[in-house]
Amino acid sequence: MKSTFSLLKRNFTSLKQRSIDPFGGDKVVKNHPLPNPQRLVNKYALITGGTNGVGKETSILFAQSGVEGLTIVDWNKKGQDVAEEINHLAKRKVAQFIHADVSSDKQMERTFTEHMQRFGKLNVLFNNAGILAANDDGPCNTPDEDYEKTMNVNVKGVFLCHKYGIPEMLKSGGGSIINVASIVALVGSAAAQVVYTASKGAVLAMSREIAIMYAKDNIRVNTINPGPLSTELLKNFLNTDAKLDRRLIHNPIGRFGHPKEIAQVVAFLASDESSLLTGTQITADGGITAAYVTPEKI
Ligand SMILES: NC(=O)c1ccc[n+]([C@@H]2O[C@H](COP(=O)([O-])OP(=O)(O)OC[C@H]3O[C@@H](n4cnc5c(N)ncnc54)[C@H](O)[C@@H]3O)[C@@H](O)[C@H]2O)c1
Repeated sequence: MKSTFSLLKRNFTSLKQRSIDPFGGDKVVKNHPLPNPQRLVNKYALITGGTNGVGKETSILFAQSGVEGLTIVDWNKKGQDVAEEINHLAKRKVAQFIHADVSSDKQMERTFTEHMQRFGKLNVLFNNAGILAANDDGPCNTPDEDYEKTMNVNVKGVFLCHKYGIPEMLKSGGGSIINVASIVALVGSAAAQVVYTASKGAVLAMSREIAIMYAKDNIRVNTINPGPLSTELLKNFLNTDAKLDRRLIHNPIGRFGHPKEIAQVVAFLASDESSLLTGTQITADGGITAAYVTPEKI
């Protein structure tokens, strides 16, 4: 009989040698070209969920791309440290932090008022804050409170940012709004997270309609659908060969995305280089949604 030690060893140390490191996105992004410091010049931006992950990488890239002013919004107060880090790196007071919950109407109204008081213009709005509730599962066993919480942050939060952001963008002469959905807005996931999936489908549909409404006002609205990104959480969760293989079978490039790879797409959509793009979506998933795989019953 196998000892407990050998079982633990299999779980945590015997991940097989792979020709591509599934978590090797950090090596890929190190080879990205240096950002163009003129790309976002004269633009004032607001990013929600800028304390971690995609939002933090995008905040840093925006500063490196010459953004004039940046408001980072998050319910995690560590966003203050991110704003200070960016100001230090940029050697100018480009970023401010506002502590707010995107699902609160009052707090979002205050957030956009404070952004305009500080910077006077809003040209780029990146609606990135989103959650995946711990007990989100199938339709028969996901708790009601997880439904409410997810819909409030992922759908109402994005709605409120348009509600208070669009009037300021109109006063600023137009701009670019970038929303974050997910590949689950396009294809069903065998590992159920049905409320998250519904919320991201709503973001995609809402973005298209708002894009059409404001197309002649010089406001562009586009959506990014990321595939799974390499985060600490994902690394800890996929800690055995079996779990990792199950995920990688869907993944043509053999690795998970890096948050900076999403930030690069955001920077393109935020810049005037994407002037013909509105009401559309960019799926940044390493080819996952292009592949045909029949899932096992899990
Ligand atoms: N990580 C992935 O694999 C993945 C895949 C597809 C889509 N996405 C989407 O990309 C976006 C960013 O994901 P991430 O991986 O960087 O997540 P993350 O958890 O690392 O960062 C999300 C940030 O949003 C903030 N936030 C959450 N709820 C908030 C609220 N109510 N008010 C204010 N701030 C709030 C968090 O504090 C955090 O800083 C999300 O919308 C997510 O659904 C992520």
